[in-house]
Amino acid sequence: MRLLRGRTLSFVSRPQARDDHQSYVYEEDGALLIAYGKIIAAGTYDSVIGQASDGVETIDHRPHLLMPGFIDPHIHFPQMQVTASYAANLLEWLNTYTFVEEQRFADEAHAKRLAKLFFDELLRQGTTTAVAYCSVHKGSADAYFAEAARRNLLMVGGKVMMDRNAPDALTDTAQSSYDDTKAVIAEWHGQARNHVAITPRFAITSTPAQLEAAGTLAREHPDLLIQTHLSENDAEIAYTLELYPEAKDYTDVYARYGLLTGKMLLGHAIHLSDREMGAIAEAGAIAVHCPTSNLFLGSGLFDLKRLKAHGVRTAIATDIGGGSSYSMLRTLDEAYKIQQLRGHRVPPIESFWQVTRGNAEALGLTDRIGTLEPGSDADIIALDASATPAMDIRMETVTRLEEELFLLQTLGDDRSVRAVYVAGEPVSVD
Ligand code: GUN
Ligand code: ZN
Repeated sequence: MRLLRGRTLSFVSRPQARDDHQSYVYEEDGALLIAYGKIIAAGTYDSVIGQASDGVETIDHRPHLLMPGFIDPHIHFPQMQVTASYAANLLEWLNTYTFVEEQRFADEAHAKRLAKLFFDELLRQGTTTAVAYCSVHKGSADAYFAEAARRNLLMVGGKVMMDRNAPDALTDTAQSSYDDTKAVIAEWHGQARNHVAITPRFAITSTPAQLEAAGTLAREHPDLLIQTHLSENDAEIAYTLELYPEAKDYTDVYARYGLLTGKMLLGHAIHLSDREMGAIAEAGAIAVHCPTSNLFLGSGLFDLKRLKAHGVRTAIATDIGGGSSYSMLRTLDEAYKIQQLRGHRVPPIESFWQVTRGNAEALGLTDRIGTLEPGSDADIIALDASATPAMDIRMETVTRLEEELFLLQTLGDDRSVRAVYVAGEPVSVD
């Protein structure tokens, strides 16, 4: 049994306004009691200490903020060595760097080495759950899930399905992508804390036969998440519509194959018509904002206000290696700036809801992660809003929680992540 003492913050619903105090629970002198990898009690220190057994190990994180670990619902495991590649746009970036680098994941030793480095980096950033694209090679998914299991991390991932418009060494076939995904599901889904996602890369790199296979997988495994890319870049959209002339629009390509469901994570979803937003909302699919990537590749500005007005569920993610930071704090900052340009100011409590409970809702995993509620897995981080001299001097004038959160998202990064617990166990973040 372990007791963490600190200022605790956990969301109960999506904040509806900047001062929506009903949307979260905050304890100035709070505590979390952990046993068997789960939070078993949460509340004020005085109330929680009464439930602890004698000899409980107490770790005092005051004055830091204890929050659920961050969730990154769109990231590419084989792209650690693609980040910071100089390109004019998405398709040039994919062809020049990404499709070259991902070929190296045919080598299992390389995949295993990078899997270790990948989770090291995520944890350093306070990200305790990610939804990752592996490469086309089944071995890359094996390396990813084996390492996640070794660390007892709750990770989601999928072997990428791609059978055209990429180098031969990086393509599968409709049949082999189906067979390999089936094998990955059989071997890894539900093993340790692993979750498998059906992962057709995007319409351009899949033949109709492969999207058909992905749709079959989705029907056979209705509990699994599905992830893909949607409407990121103008040239990508035009080419997609050439490849699928019968589709009404890009969103309809996925809908026609039975992929547009409440389990579908749609990376980017920037350039969408009203019809597409309506169809996505009706299906309950999720538009995943990837702000640093959208700015870095010059793809466009996510239209959060319009998506919200249509009732589309949203999430926020790094999209490493198109993205330029692994930090969910940096990601929130860039997202905020994008919405500023759109005339839509996002309150800091909404931002922190999004990277915790909000992203967990998108994954359908709020019973496991994203909150500090008793019964949850004990994936917890301690955040320090005075981590740097510039933050520390600004903190002198901060009096309210919302201001502190806004400071964390505006100036914070990995240096603010002072401690990370995975299923109740501390991990080193130095
Ligand atoms: N569209 C298809 N593949 C990718 C990828 O790897 N990164 C991004 N940002 N967009 C994509
Ligand atoms: Zn992506």
